[in-house]
Amino acid sequence: MTEEKKQALPILEMKGVSKAFGGVQALDDVSLQVFEGDVLGIIGPNGSGKTTIVNSITGFIRPSSGQIFFRGREITGKKPHRIADMGVTRTFQVMRPYYSLPAFKNLVISLCSPRARRTGGWRGGGRLGDRKTVAIDILEEIGFERDSHIPFKITSTLPTGYLKRLELARCLSLKPEIIICDEVFSGLSMSEIASMVPLIQRLQDDGITIVMIEHRLRELFQVANRVMVLNFGSKLIEGTPDQVMADERVKEAYFGSEKVEEVMTYA
Ligand SMILES: Nc1ncnc2c1ncn2[C@@H]1O[C@H](COP(=O)(O)OP(=O)(O)OP(=O)(O)O)[C@@H](O)[C@H]1O
Ligand SMILES: [Mg+2]
Repeated sequence: MTEEKKQALPILEMKGVSKAFGGVQALDDVSLQVFEGDVLGIIGPNGSGKTTIVNSITGFIRPSSGQIFFRGREITGKKPHRIADMGVTRTFQVMRPYYSLPAFKNLVISLCSPRARRTGGWRGGGRLGDRKTVAIDILEEIGFERDSHIPFKITSTLPTGYLKRLELARCLSLKPEIIICDEVFSGLSMSEIASMVPLIQRLQDDGITIVMIEHRLRELFQVANRVMVLNFGSKLIEGTPDQVMADERVKEAYFGSEKVEEVMTYA
């Protein structure tokens, strides 16, 4: 991290956040700072609390204790629509599009939101134009081929790769400041993942701060400048991809033993 960034206020911050579900301590005193322009990776074994972090930040659950700030303003426990309206958006690990509608109509719906109307959507410069046109423009930008019928297909008939892109498109319709991606590469083929990596880089170039929860480490480490490792709801380590991969505790906790070398050839 540069000196400049260290001195800047984090765009997103968690301070000592804990969350218990009955007897399960899903998050235990997790603190985290995300700076503007970061691509922060969050990794950790299944059940380590990654999605609980996303749900806490975006208002889908209320932490048992601790605080969350966006641009210095406390957002702990605010409603999801209020947090989204500030530009803090997320994808869902278990996708939730309107399956019975054509793909573009999913975006037309999110473009009805107050933030989209105010901002004009991704790349919009003020008031929103024709919703259908903006929806199809956004879909085209993120990989729904121009002149294909794909944006008009019923969502339930689309392959997973398009559904993942639709999740990102839904975030982009709000002209987001932050996108928290909860496993956007999961369920995709190697070639689909390879084509998603430049898209994530383009979003970063566009000035969007990104938090990526991911099991696909090779691809994550191509885009992330910092990585946090969670284990049993606690932060194990945070650092550059190289620092994290070199940490013995990470190797033990996350990768097990024999597959370490295989997983670590990520360059
Ligand atoms: N709504 C809930 N009610 C009860 N327990 C929950 C709930 N949500 C999460 N948990 C539990 O909290 C722990 C953390 O879950 P979480 O979904 O955050 O993990 P994760 O790191 O996202 O896992 P995965 O890699 O499988 O997506 C798990 O033990 C999970 O079973
Ligand atoms: Mg999860």
